[in-house]
Amino acid sequence: MQPKGLICAGGEATRLGELTRVANKHLLPVGSWPMIYYPLQLLQLAGVRDVLLVTGKGHAGQMIDLLGDGRLAPRGGGNPILELDLTYKVQTEPGGIAQVVGMARDFAGDAPLVVVLGDNIFELSQAEPIREWAEGPPGRARIFVKEVDDPENFGVVVWGEDGSVVDIVEKAGVVDTRYDAPPSAHAVVGLYCYPPDVFDVIDALEPSSRGELEITDVNRYYALEGRLDACEVEGWWEDAGKHWQHLADIGKRIEETGANRERRA
Ligand code: DAU
Repeated sequence: MQPKGLICAGGEATRLGELTRVANKHLLPVGSWPMIYYPLQLLQLAGVRDVLLVTGKGHAGQMIDLLGDGRLAPRGGGNPILELDLTYKVQTEPGGIAQVVGMARDFAGDAPLVVVLGDNIFELSQAEPIREWAEGPPGRARIFVKEVDDPENFGVVVWGEDGSVVDIVEKAGVVDTRYDAPPSAHAVVGLYCYPPDVFDVIDALEPSSRGELEITDVNRYYALEGRLDACEVEGWWEDAGKHWQHLADIGKRIEETGANRERRA
């Protein structure tokens, strides 16, 4: 069955300070596009057409003003930037990424689901590993990992001796206090592929120490079940929600290499 897509664009965006007082974080400029175009384009390149976009309450109307029904022609003409079927929902409190995924239950129905965080941007589109998962054995989940210099700021994987993922740790020492320091430098990036039983997994979750339903707990469930594959992200990957200075740096990178390219040049 054709996967459906979900963009998580809720949350509070306090880390971007003054920039998000009257603007939705996901609409801030990164390079020549608003941030949200990149994860939407990634889904489109992976062959996903039906996308649910979950936004927070703050400035939610701006998102609809910009994206409309998901068909977006560039200003001044040319090939469409996006040709998606968009559905919207509002997350009224930032209850965690897994809460947002849970909101997609009726939308997804029996279809598998590709989830992208609204502030994650990739050099390469990852279309191949997403298609491979969609065409592979049913019932498996797929996450994507990337080695980083600051693993304390992310969810990170714990590798077993056979190279499989045996555990996942969310912001070691802060959210997950089982570890004082991150047990690896392999961050779990904001791109996740789930089979339809993900909603039952979310139903059974308890809020974490920061009061959120953690996507890391969902991924750990699949790891412990032996139903999780971890793919290394090729090309650069950026979490654009970290700091305002970062927005300009990522814009520069995009200018240099492009984003969501099919392959490394
Ligand atoms: O960027 C990758 C990281 O994203 C992962 O390594 C972590 O495991 C994962 O928890 C997440 O960490 P962050 O601290 O970066 O998440 P943040 O709160 O910044 O939210 C990321 C995106 O998810 C953001 O664009 C808004 C959306 N979001 C977040 C929350 C908490 C929602 O839509 N609703 C929410 O309630």
